[in-house]
Amino acid sequence: METPLTRNILPGSEPFSIDDYERRGGYKALRKVLEGMSPLEVQKEVTDSGLRGRGGAGFSTGTKWSGVHLGAGARRPKYFLVNADEMEPGTFKDRLLLEGDPHQLVEGAVIASYAIEADLSYIFLRWDYKLAARRVSKAITEAYQKGFLGKNILGSGYNLELYLHESSGRYMCGEESGLFDALEGKRAIPRSKPPYAVTSGVWGKPTVLNNVETIANVPHIIANGPDWFKGLSKSKDSGTKLYSVCGKVKIPGVWELPMGTVMREIIEDRAGGMQEGFRLRGLLPGGASTDFLLEEHLDAPMDFDSMMKAGSRLGTGGIIILDDKTCPVGMVHNLMAFFSRESCGWCTPCRDGLPWAEKLLEAIETGSGKMSDLDHLAHICRMCAPGHTFCMLAPGAVEPLQSALKYFREDFERHIVEHKCPLKKG
Ligand SMILES: Cc1cc2nc3c(=O)[nH]c(=O)nc-3n(C[C@H](O)[C@H](O)[C@H](O)COP(=O)(O)O)c2cc1C
Ligand code: SF4
Repeated sequence: METPLTRNILPGSEPFSIDDYERRGGYKALRKVLEGMSPLEVQKEVTDSGLRGRGGAGFSTGTKWSGVHLGAGARRPKYFLVNADEMEPGTFKDRLLLEGDPHQLVEGAVIASYAIEADLSYIFLRWDYKLAARRVSKAITEAYQKGFLGKNILGSGYNLELYLHESSGRYMCGEESGLFDALEGKRAIPRSKPPYAVTSGVWGKPTVLNNVETIANVPHIIANGPDWFKGLSKSKDSGTKLYSVCGKVKIPGVWELPMGTVMREIIEDRAGGMQEGFRLRGLLPGGASTDFLLEEHLDAPMDFDSMMKAGSRLGTGGIIILDDKTCPVGMVHNLMAFFSRESCGWCTPCRDGLPWAEKLLEAIETGSGKMSDLDHLAHICRMCAPGHTFCMLAPGAVEPLQSALKYFREDFERHIVEHKCPLKKG
């Protein structure tokens, strides 16, 4: 099984220096691009590979790039941004790539920038990722020293400046247009669309934003071709995928596996199954803002379409396990406390609905809830549906809640009838 994204990563060790990275084939894809491919040819390879964004929504990467106007008449400067803000609870896949193989990301960012003829590029990094900041920063310095960044890269005539920007540390800063605000030094509030980022993004200029894992794939697609990339997968979505598991499993962690690997294999074979004394009750398959699935769904392949069919989303591929000793009401309350704190306050359903849901969940969890609260919670979920808000924070925030009301309704009702959490002693 090939693992292109993680093959250079040695857990517990410093990442490869630029010389070691080059010895292992690094920056060959960049040379290939700059020595003989046009931006449109690079875009075509990526489109043909079927690469879909790994930041959550699964949008076609090549299609996104193709929206940028190329040539002498294009508005400038153009920006290529890497979203390394990774603050979704239960998601820690990009951290592995940032800390473990920063040159892979730098190489991918330069190729992606060339494909849209960007002048400037930023890696927008989660504030808490200090080790990643140090390692990515070192990789950028080395890449400048070797002529992979800056003026006239490898004598091709292409110029690119790449900066590392440390986020101000809110979940909203990871949302596309919230990230633009944060980079501009403003409070992160999503912008209404249109205009779309490819015509008016950061500082009002043409911009493309991609996730770390998305961009880490790009050098491998260029080096090995679209058909090779498609062949890595077990499903119709191409490539490999970084999947992670956290919760009461024996070996929590993150693994690179073929896209479309079934959940059971990830949880049982990779994460070692449940710890002694714990039973699996449910799971959030793609991070904290996806719908719960149950044991009966474990044989579903983890790809974009199969997860939708099962009633959830692939999201980030970060599986969060709900075990039988953890209260689903308490778990959803905990997540809602996070999402309501992180709301930017721009739209009413999110600004008012999420704290209201948090209060109702707290009341139910601590024994003072009423049966009518369940209707109020369902109402808040409907109010926060996609299309009612400027960004996807609120629709994502209610996904665990709406599915918990469906699958664990008895737990909610027992809290209300017994005036306490059934899992709490006394
Ligand atoms: C509240 C919120 C937070 C987000 N945080 C991140 C993040 O930390 N990293 C990320 O790649 N995408 C995040 N996204 C998704 C981005 O808006 C965007 O879709 C993504 O970076 C595009 O990259 P991709 O096409 O490569 O997936 C977030 C979205 C929302 C609504
Ligand atoms: S959904 Fe929430 S976070 Fe997103 S724009 Fe509206 S208030 Fe802000």
